[in-house]
Amino acid sequence: MHSPILAPSILAGDHAHLAASAAIVEQLGLRWIHLDIMDGHFVPNLSFGPQTVAALRKNSQLFFDVHLMLSEPHRYIEAFAKAGSNLISIHIEPAYDHAATLARIKELGCQRGIVLNPGTPAAAIDHLLGQVELVLVMTVQPGFGGQSFRRDQLEKIATIARRRRELGLGFRLEVDGGVDLATGAECRAAGADTFVAGTSFFNAPDRRAYLSTIAGW
Ligand code: DX5
Ligand code: ZN
Repeated sequence: MHSPILAPSILAGDHAHLAASAAIVEQLGLRWIHLDIMDGHFVPNLSFGPQTVAALRKNSQLFFDVHLMLSEPHRYIEAFAKAGSNLISIHIEPAYDHAATLARIKELGCQRGIVLNPGTPAAAIDHLLGQVELVLVMTVQPGFGGQSFRRDQLEKIATIARRRRELGLGFRLEVDGGVDLATGAECRAAGADTFVAGTSFFNAPDRRAYLSTIAGW
């Protein structure tokens, strides 16, 4: 089992000072940061684009875990790769050539992730498991931070963890949405190893204590 990685979601940071929010993450010794990109179409909200990612890249050594919530992600892969993404995750739900888009992400030198919404079954991505470095299970309907964790997704996490064992694959299994120390522990028990946390991380009264709990999972 992979050791746990916490990827704070900058969506819950200070949008007037995103670089300062990224610096908080880096100064705590964390390696990853999660960047949520929304198009107002695949999800009913907007966030920020490649220009912001590129600006953050200038002052950060963090691993940029970029989550594209876009209806046509294939049109933006190059822009996000050039902006300095380390990993680019795309959703399975919209209709486009998923395999070709994953291949393009790799060609551009980034790691590849595939994402499932809460209503999407694990079987929908089975054919792509050998072509990704990360599978992201949404534990809320994407679009907004601060929503409640959906416990009905735990079974899907366990199913994908089991498939990973059966197929002898090494992708990371990430969860995103409503993750805190309690719900994250349940995800860990189900087989998750990578934890996106927006609200619970940026609002934690003692971030070091928060981190050491996760490090012990
Ligand atoms: C939801 C985003 C999440 C979000 C998580 O659409 O994909 O990454 O920032 O936020 P919290 O941890 O507040 O649920
Ligand atoms: Zn996300």
